[in-house]
Amino acid sequence: MDPLSTPFTLRGTTVRHRLALPPMSTYQALAGNLPNPAWHTGHYASRSAGMGLVIVEATAVSPQAPATPQDLGLWNDRQAEGLAQIAAAVTAAGAVPALQLSHAGRKASRTRPWGPGADAPIAPDEGGWEPLGPSPIPFADGYRTPREMTPDQIGLTVQQFAAAAGRAVHAGFRAVELHAGHGRLLHSFLSPIANRRTDAYGATFDGRTLLLRQAVRAVRRALPDDVPLLVRMSVTDHLPGGWTLEDTVRLAPLLAADGADLIDCTSGGIVRPEPRPSGPAWQAPYARAVRQAGIPTAAVGKITTLEQAGQLLADGDCDLVLMGRQLLADPMLPARHAPDLAPAPYQRALATIGTADGQLAPEL
Ligand SMILES: Cc1cc2nc3c(=O)[nH]c(=O)nc-3n(C[C@H](O)[C@H](O)[C@H](O)COP(=O)(O)O)c2cc1C
Repeated sequence: MDPLSTPFTLRGTTVRHRLALPPMSTYQALAGNLPNPAWHTGHYASRSAGMGLVIVEATAVSPQAPATPQDLGLWNDRQAEGLAQIAAAVTAAGAVPALQLSHAGRKASRTRPWGPGADAPIAPDEGGWEPLGPSPIPFADGYRTPREMTPDQIGLTVQQFAAAAGRAVHAGFRAVELHAGHGRLLHSFLSPIANRRTDAYGATFDGRTLLLRQAVRAVRRALPDDVPLLVRMSVTDHLPGGWTLEDTVRLAPLLAADGADLIDCTSGGIVRPEPRPSGPAWQAPYARAVRQAGIPTAAVGKITTLEQAGQLLADGDCDLVLMGRQLLADPMLPARHAPDLAPAPYQRALATIGTADGQLAPEL
């Protein structure tokens, strides 16, 4: 069996092959951070045909956690009911639904990244909410200064992640991912660039990693034993004095001991502008380095072909391959890779469309 077609089991959850959709915000939530059934269900269903794992976009764990007003949220029952429809749509197509749980931290209270007035801070008198962070240092020019979180606020946030994880499972998601990358709250505590605290949540490696470790432990306790917990990390800040790949390699086994089952290896996002390398599958070496520390990994970033994905798996770089923008543009790619896994109507189409006579099935 080719490496891409090999099933993958984490805890009690098996995905049918190694290709997965990474979380990608669509900024289409309705007022109240509720899913828009007409958008979200169709969007995720269409990306689940023949797919293994589908990680639904960053979903805020509390009213202070969205980046934009159009982010999904999961802190109340109405939101959970809406998200259950998305989980059901992914499941109906035969894929495994996962949900990314997020707190935007310093990146909170912004307009969405397109349209009139795009990508701008939302002031408190315009309906904005208060960005939170480890220290009162803004993410970049044009961003609001975050409030330095108290230990009580940090403890509450850990509880909010755990509560959202419990709701996610109740809503039908079969895996949960914590967003600890791209400058969001959990990442901002890890990085000395954003975290200048001198208390138990800063100063040293143990201090800066404490929030993420507490979140992983609390979420693990909130999840049934058979539900895997993924952690998306910016494995390096790409900056001197920032969080490094060596830090991630040191932390990964500790997170595994705390209950994490896979590290989803992305990078960067702690400041803007930032130096960021690029190129085909450019972050895969990070996934390889973290995997060598003894925990399964996912690789992501400019992976665009099935051949490339299969090669990364064959080379032992990662356990899962995430393909983002390519699958936004070409949602049928997984079904073409695994036509026997596609929903039946698509299977029949794929089986007949390429034949010499190209005839429809006889009953039509
Ligand atoms: C439109 C868009 C939205 C994204 N939203 C999220 C998100 O909600 N959470 C996250 O961790 N990463 C997010 N990302 C990053 C992707 O998950 C992925 O890491 C990135 O696109 C690189 O993979 P690619 O080159 O295959 O697209 C987003 C990327 C795009 C293009």
